[in-house]
Amino acid sequence: MASLKWWETAVIYQIYPRSFQDSNGDGIGDLLGITSRLDYIAGLGVDAIWISPFFASPQKDFGYDVSDYCDIHHEYGTLVDFDHMIEAIHQRGMRLMVDIVPAHCSDQHLWFTESRQSRDNPKADWFHWVDPLDDGSAPTNWLSFFGGRAWSWEPRRQQYYLHNFLPSQPNLNHAHPEVQEAFRDIARFWFDRGVDGFRLDAVHTINADSAPYRNNLPKPDFVSGILPQQQQPFFRQLHDTAQLNQPAIQQFSESFRAVADGYDGDRFLMGELHGDDAVLASQTFTAEGRLHATYNFNLLEWGGLDVAGLRQAITDAVEAFNNSGRLVFAFSNHDVPRSVTRQLGALGLSSEHQDALQLLLLKLEVSLVGSSCIYQGEELALEDVQNIPVEKMRDPWGIEFAPNFAGRDSCRTPMVWQSDTPHGGFSDAEDIWLPQGEGHFARAALEQAATAESVYQQFSAFLHWRKSQPAMMQANYMTALSGTDGQIIFDRVSDTQRLRCCFDFDHLDASFEEA
Ligand code: GLC
Ligand code: CA
Repeated sequence: MASLKWWETAVIYQIYPRSFQDSNGDGIGDLLGITSRLDYIAGLGVDAIWISPFFASPQKDFGYDVSDYCDIHHEYGTLVDFDHMIEAIHQRGMRLMVDIVPAHCSDQHLWFTESRQSRDNPKADWFHWVDPLDDGSAPTNWLSFFGGRAWSWEPRRQQYYLHNFLPSQPNLNHAHPEVQEAFRDIARFWFDRGVDGFRLDAVHTINADSAPYRNNLPKPDFVSGILPQQQQPFFRQLHDTAQLNQPAIQQFSESFRAVADGYDGDRFLMGELHGDDAVLASQTFTAEGRLHATYNFNLLEWGGLDVAGLRQAITDAVEAFNNSGRLVFAFSNHDVPRSVTRQLGALGLSSEHQDALQLLLLKLEVSLVGSSCIYQGEELALEDVQNIPVEKMRDPWGIEFAPNFAGRDSCRTPMVWQSDTPHGGFSDAEDIWLPQGEGHFARAALEQAATAESVYQQFSAFLHWRKSQPAMMQANYMTALSGTDGQIIFDRVSDTQRLRCCFDFDHLDASFEEA
């Protein structure tokens, strides 16, 4: 049997840099801060680190609005800090993935400040510019994920431009050969600096089409969910025949993959994407010669999943990608409420079960086929920080919809490292960029790492044990799920081992035995 590549079984630790560790007392996390906490991460036994964007940016969408892809945002440090950080990560036997946002840049990027000036400047066609319809309105009915229309007016050009997120995140025109080459250069820049892979942001929102653009169709089976987030008009439309997931995107996947293949050491491309048919979209993006794997959303359900929902989510993803290594699971990230809070709610459990449930979820996630991303604080069973007062909210999505929908600040609050230190040792500043969770002080990271039987320690022991199991590490195959209503049972199978994995949600306990 061919041995698996590192990224087919990797456990990847996601860092939200603004909230991990501040090193210079400005209340904002930074790269030197991350470097100072690497022993804590390495101690868990993870294989890789993915850091959300730390590139030059006006921070309107906290780094997902890049104004220079080849420089570090001044609040986060310098390229020298980056070089030290990556060296320290590699010294500890871990890999580093960085988060590239190819679909859109910031309106402060020189590409856009030039493009918007006129219809005939050298960057004139680097974005999606269209004339108004005869009645002056925008060319299609496309909406933005963050509310409002996906088209904004530029008086200098007397044209609309496309943005799937904020108006300050204009969509790049990936049909333009110079845009494609610019992104190949960006890939080379970071590969040359030693990065082991990329998380590619929102690749289904890349657009390489040209006018005339078509209208989205209404979603025939739209049901307004109970969550405010599910009631947004954006979700009333089908997107994949017009606005998103268009075939021409694959030029990007293929050209990025060709660059990655030119480097040694199995550089990894993981695409974050969604679709009206998410399985189809993932298969398309991971076809031969494209991205290696896609980041799967099935376990990230905003309102949490009961056991039946978990079984369905896992089955749907695994049926399409079993035995392939093209799948990356996640229960938590910087875009959804923290996993343990969602899951306690969905399973009808109280917070006394917080630790046991979190550990069970972590073990389940890393026992599935493919790799997995755990989000900073999941190893501490941190709860979501809800009820942040409106004046302290920072996420533009939440600010747009508050108080109906509070956005994503609740999972982005700064880490607490030590319970008896101001701001939990996150920062020496008087004020920090987002308030911390009061409950997080009882789960301070350095204290948990030093406490026997903490979630951190038990998860770390599990990750070390997992490495010694051929069925987990040498093959990427699992059987269909079985078990009672409260259980999820499957076998991981390799040539030399059959390992029965049982996750019991009635008793919040996992067990593993050779079958
Ligand atoms: C992705 C990111 C999210 C960001 C959006 C726009 O979904 O995870 O944080 O707001 O892309 O770039
Ligand atoms: Ca700082």
